[in-house]
Amino acid sequence: MCGIVGYISKDEKASSILLDAVKKLEYRGYDSVGIATINNGKIELRKDSGKIDEVDREIHFVDMAGSAGVAHVRWATHGHPNKTNSHPHTDNNNTIAIVHNGIIENHEELKKELIEEGHIFKSKTDSEVIAHLIEKFISEGFNFQNAVLETFKLIKGSNAIGAISVNSPNELIAIRHESPLVVGLGKNGNFIASDVPAFLKHTKRVIFPEDNELVIMNSDNVTIKDLNGNILNKKVETIDWDEEMAQKEGYDHFMLKEINEQSVVVSDTLAGGKDIENIVSELGNIKRICFVACGTSYHGALTGKYIFESFLNIPTDVIYSSEFKYFNNVLDEDMLAIFVSQSGETADTLSAIKMAKNHSKTLAIVNVLGSSITREADHIIYTKAGPEIAVAATKTYLSQLVSIYLLAIYLSKNRSNVFHENMVSQIEKVPDYINQLMLDEDQIKEIAKKYKSASVFFFLGRGFIYPTALEGALKLKEITYIHAEGYPSGELKHGPLALIDEDVVVVVLAPSENSNSISINSYNDTVNNMEEVKSRGAQIIAITSYKNGENINVNDIFKVDNQVDELLSPLVYIVPLQLLSYYISIYKGLDPDKPRNLAKCVTVK
Ligand code: G6P
Repeated sequence: MCGIVGYISKDEKASSILLDAVKKLEYRGYDSVGIATINNGKIELRKDSGKIDEVDREIHFVDMAGSAGVAHVRWATHGHPNKTNSHPHTDNNNTIAIVHNGIIENHEELKKELIEEGHIFKSKTDSEVIAHLIEKFISEGFNFQNAVLETFKLIKGSNAIGAISVNSPNELIAIRHESPLVVGLGKNGNFIASDVPAFLKHTKRVIFPEDNELVIMNSDNVTIKDLNGNILNKKVETIDWDEEMAQKEGYDHFMLKEINEQSVVVSDTLAGGKDIENIVSELGNIKRICFVACGTSYHGALTGKYIFESFLNIPTDVIYSSEFKYFNNVLDEDMLAIFVSQSGETADTLSAIKMAKNHSKTLAIVNVLGSSITREADHIIYTKAGPEIAVAATKTYLSQLVSIYLLAIYLSKNRSNVFHENMVSQIEKVPDYINQLMLDEDQIKEIAKKYKSASVFFFLGRGFIYPTALEGALKLKEITYIHAEGYPSGELKHGPLALIDEDVVVVVLAPSENSNSISINSYNDTVNNMEEVKSRGAQIIAITSYKNGENINVNDIFKVDNQVDELLSPLVYIVPLQLLSYYISIYKGLDPDKPRNLAKCVTVK
């Protein structure tokens, strides 16, 4: 998985704009970077493995001349991260440069044929075949755009391609199938990119090409054609994200900025409640729900299961997207399949929605406007988190949760169920609760400092807060590389208790029971589970809003000083866990925004 960008202008230097744009996509991959421009009738190419700033210090991308170019950040799939395997890739004669995001499933056979025809391959990537195929079609008499089209017809898999050629120096060509690609219409030139933040600084006017649509652009115009060469009339949309949203704005890291934005995100998502109410009115009868998601989004979905089953009595499954194909026989028209995805591009979730549509009602809960998953869904809820840049999801998770609560609330209202009563007004208090928690950030820092060298963490929670324990463990794994497991508090004694000793840290999430009639009062059971691990020597950090919480027998306690209902506790308790992971990562000297081996948007299966 990778990020691609292209820019073509009349006279602006493309390299500096491409460098800036590709930095905005660094969350998509950061093991290699490269830029190619057309300079005086030649392809100028600079690339290497490493993070963008490190590579740029060595090879000075902005020294590259030319007003058209393509750029790439790589997260290696085929071929090790090294200079040769970095994109852009060129043909035999260095007349064409391409950038690619995806996987060419039939690259072995294509490469074999090209080698037999005399093409010499420099890299070990699947992507390089694209440059050679375009070269081949041009040598057979095709013009540049048709050569890209013919190449695209030959390759199999999920792919987005950007290409430039010295034979057509005033054209930038792009095409996609299942991998993300968006067109930006700028004042001084036009863009292609894997994601909007790449060019948000220059334009908010975008076109979303569909699968199998060819983008042909020069500095003034963009034309989109279908595979038969027919010109398509595409809608120009305006993105409501601001450029500042994709900047650090004084924070040391995007992750910290995004954690701090969460109270606003909750309010913004609540403000979109009317749209969710409208969707609910169109859903008709639903007998079953099936959530499908990966990673953090899966934890949001799992929280949904607790809500929908406990209070709406709707049988609800939660399935990892990559496992969905093994369960999809149970789809029928009484089922609502809900696909949760921050990016809207995750390959496994995209395949799953394609399988489900036409069999069940489909609803996508997605953060990125116009993303691939939204194009497959019958209904879409856009979460209102704004662009999320840090690889580890934080604010998008909270906006997914709020959207799922609102969905449940309006479904319950539709069914005259008591669940909806007062719930919106209770969620409206959450932004204040989060702001209050953020005032106690120093306390979390102290806890992070104390436990930063621990090698094993368990996160325990019961009932509604159990998925939050899973998400707390995932955050810690992702950005600190400490082994962490989330468990239902009551399950630990069935095996993992054997692992508990003085070196293990156990984070216990213990929301208080309260007077709300729909609370399920898990606190006392959780305290008992905590005693089980305490008596085996574990070090315990409790996160609790229980009124007498300070009396419990733990090593450290983070008091959640508000009366959040147990049912809504997932919206609040995740915040200290995000901060804990963030500060442990900082105290370990790591970069929380760019965890090793991970990428924000996984467009490969
Ligand atoms: C990747 C990211 C995770 C994310 C998951 C699902 O693994 O590193 O942070 O939760 O994909 O992504 P999605 O965009 O579908 O929510």
